[in-house]
Amino acid sequence: MDISEVIKQAAQAIKDADVLLITAGAGMGVDSGLPDFRGDQGFWKAYPALQGYSFIDMANPEWFESDPHRAWGFYGHRLNLYRETVPHQGFQLLLQWTLEKAKSSFVYTSNVDGQFQKSGFDPDCICECHGSIHHWQELNGRGEIHIADGIELDIDEKAVRLSGDLPRHPLLRGEVRPNILMFGDFYWQSERTDQQYDRFDAWIEQHQNTKVTIIEMGAGTAIPSVRNQGERLLRQNPAARLIRINPRESQCRHHDQTQCFSIPLGALEALSQIQASYESL
Ligand SMILES: NC(=O)c1ccc[n+]([C@@H]2O[C@H](COP(=O)([O-])OP(=O)(O)OC[C@H]3O[C@@H](n4cnc5c(N)ncnc54)[C@H](O)[C@@H]3O)[C@@H](O)[C@H]2O)c1
Repeated sequence: MDISEVIKQAAQAIKDADVLLITAGAGMGVDSGLPDFRGDQGFWKAYPALQGYSFIDMANPEWFESDPHRAWGFYGHRLNLYRETVPHQGFQLLLQWTLEKAKSSFVYTSNVDGQFQKSGFDPDCICECHGSIHHWQELNGRGEIHIADGIELDIDEKAVRLSGDLPRHPLLRGEVRPNILMFGDFYWQSERTDQQYDRFDAWIEQHQNTKVTIIEMGAGTAIPSVRNQGERLLRQNPAARLIRINPRESQCRHHDQTQCFSIPLGALEALSQIQASYESL
């Protein structure tokens, strides 16, 4: 099908929806200037000092024990980057569409960067399945989870190392780390994410027989948690629609083409084109 026709159908699906479910992977941040992980401009190209290590090697809590300045070099650089980033205009288009609906919409994302909160989305309607870099926990997995706003980190970006003392949090004891789910993560404190899931599951339950349009952006196939979430909902709810936006991996596994719209463009470009079509409906 011609792409302009798919854009038109996607705009119609957004207009017709009772609620929107916005789902996003790392590709959502690319148009804000953020790296994804595996793309050509992904994090591995951005960290020459980490050559020889894979993402899976680095995203391991073991580093906070064995070489915490390295661990904070990796996570601290990202924290600083996400704090500085201005979310691209596509976030505002999504927010506008959600606010037009009578009922509340929801965001489900594997991104830990807090860009949806920064764009004005209701924090109670966001589920961050891999946690948040802006929230910290104790290294030993005990205690609570607290926001780290205002705590500055000085990172030597070339060496990818924290300069100076290890960070402390006034409300947490001892050594701390970001509340992000890492690989082999025995001490991940899941309470904040569990609460987000409770709200998300209740929202899904509440809308299981309504017209839910899922707008998925930048979700890769290597760790398909975000893609699976949308596809599961499609199978459960015949009134659901999925708009999959991804310049390289927009294919839909779901066979019913009336339920799934594949848009092989970047997020900002696709959302802008949908908005132009939406205005003319
Ligand atoms: N910003 C973040 O918080 C961040 C960044 C990188 C990775 N992560 C974490 O790492 C894991 C990575 O998995 P992933 O699937 O999110 O990332 P990934 O790098 O595996 O996949 C990114 C996807 O985005 C697509 N993409 C690239 N440019 C795009 C654009 N302009 N618009 C839309 N899509 C675009 C790519 O084709 C790819 O399919 C996740 O679990 C996540 O927790 C988080």
